[in-house]
Amino acid sequence: MGIDKRKDDHIYLASSELSQIGSAWFEEVILIHNALPEIDFSEVDLTTRFLGAPVKAPFGIGAMTGGTELAGKINAELAKAAEEFGIPIYVGSQRIALVKPEVKWTFEVVKQNAPHVPKVANLGAPQLAELGERELEEWVVQAIDMIDAYAIAIHLNAAQEVVQPEGEPRFKGVLEKLKIVKRAAGRPLIVKETGNGISKEVAARLSGIADAIDVGGFGGTSFVAIEGARTKESPLQKRLAETYKWWGIPTAASICEVKSAYAGYLIASGGIRSGLDGAKAIALGANFFTMSQPLLKAALDGRLREEIAMIIAELKTAMFLTGARTVQELALVPRVYGPRLRNWIEQRRLTC
Ligand SMILES: Cc1cc2nc3c(=O)[nH]c(=O)nc-3n(C[C@H](O)[C@H](O)[C@H](O)COP(=O)(O)O)c2cc1C
Repeated sequence: MGIDKRKDDHIYLASSELSQIGSAWFEEVILIHNALPEIDFSEVDLTTRFLGAPVKAPFGIGAMTGGTELAGKINAELAKAAEEFGIPIYVGSQRIALVKPEVKWTFEVVKQNAPHVPKVANLGAPQLAELGERELEEWVVQAIDMIDAYAIAIHLNAAQEVVQPEGEPRFKGVLEKLKIVKRAAGRPLIVKETGNGISKEVAARLSGIADAIDVGGFGGTSFVAIEGARTKESPLQKRLAETYKWWGIPTAASICEVKSAYAGYLIASGGIRSGLDGAKAIALGANFFTMSQPLLKAALDGRLREEIAMIIAELKTAMFLTGARTVQELALVPRVYGPRLRNWIEQRRLTC
């Protein structure tokens, strides 16, 4: 199957309900209402830093797409909105443009339409495993130049690769290769999952290599479910996808996992569906959060700006009602955890 068809399939399937599996466990986090916040709503300040770069809000547009006509149009729309709201934007895997230079424009539209906000380049762990050192360095430099990236994200997507019809479940040597990426990039390295979460053990192994971990937890878009829906010929892969679409660490638990073992910058993603979910992610210990599927859907429906404005309003309201004037104060607000998250924290001996 052609890579172009796969990219467009991902866009269509991700925007349908069948891609949304389980819960990210934000219902397990209750922020305590502050009836006497002693601030005015207008004072709530969302400005913060994204890996050192000043941004207007603690959230951005997650890694999604590129490589086809449709993906190029979506990237241009997402980039315009990112620029307008002063928030960071990731692009989807740039591998397609490195093997097919004629589709580079579908990523370049991001730097053209969002010249002033931090942009994040993207490559996948399977490419790290397959490329030699010299070639990998070249790919990293080209991916960064293509969008004038402030940082580069490497995605870890083992579950997707194992159920994908044309998947490449090769992860041997990836940790060492991440060091090459970091050296070649000369800018922040984000290591991210794509919907199955990151544990404290993995976070500890990434310490000193990754400048940021993006948890990409379970409970939102499931690439296992998406690949399962794409698989026509292989009953085995269809069955694998059905069994494993429930596999992963819910995002709220993954934030606690990473926070307990990693002192670097922490990004929450996976199943964040409102500014309130995002506020809970920050209260749990994330510095920043990203949303993907809801913004893709909003872009396809022509209501992207309204959606971003809504997320901002929800986030500001969470801060006002907890008496947090700044993003730093939001990290400290009182909260209660539900039994599943509390049990997870206890069994895994996490500090959260
Ligand atoms: C259509 C689509 C394509 C994606 N492609 C990529 C990708 O190329 N690289 C990547 O790192 N993550 C990719 N992701 C995963 C997202 O970055 C994110 O980790 C995941 O969708 C969970 O967030 P969500 O629940 O808010 O959608 C993609 C997500 C979507 C919806």
